[in-house]
Amino acid sequence: MADQTAATHDLLAYVRKVSLRDDDLLRELRETTADLPGGTAMQVMAEEGQLLSLLVGLTGARAVLEIGTFTGYSTLCMARALPADGVLVSCDIDDRWPAIGADFWKRDGVDSRIDLRIGDAAATLDALVAERGPESFDLVFIDADKANYVRY
Ligand SMILES: C[S@@+](CC[C@H](N)C(=O)[O-])C[C@H]1O[C@@H](n2cnc3c(N)ncnc32)[C@H](O)[C@@H]1O
Repeated sequence: MADQTAATHDLLAYVRKVSLRDDDLLRELRETTADLPGGTAMQVMAEEGQLLSLLVGLTGARAVLEIGTFTGYSTLCMARALPADGVLVSCDIDDRWPAIGADFWKRDGVDSRIDLRIGDAAATLDALVAERGPESFDLVFIDADKANYVRY
């Protein structure tokens, strides 16, 4: 293995202190999710959400596909970085968790950019290819059931 640095609590605290641009809505969604069983483990970390947002902005993506919405934290981070007419299609098999995120997307004013698809992602992807044609997304974030990543 190449040189690797463990993300200790001290290191994470330092990264957050010097680089994290946080706000009340993001904090509230993280806190709401942390109250769910396994919520914190499922959700991307604040700095990962910020990185996703940066990647969407840097690449100039206008159409983003996300597989694995959960409570919509990564969705919110990426949708914020899209242009007003951009689209983020986010897929989840379970509608309970995205319903929590939908309220936050609306409060942030980015809900019109988010197209939530509920169902097994493999079937959703087939439907998207039929609807939009192949290679219709500029950026894809896969954060769902690991066993199906190759298929996705
Ligand atoms: C790690 S969480 C996603 C976390 C999210 N990106 C965030 O930052 O909050 C994984 C999600 O994938 C969903 N999922 C699992 N299997 C799936 C499948 N076959 N199709 C679609 N979604 C699936 C789960 O319901 C869960 O909400």
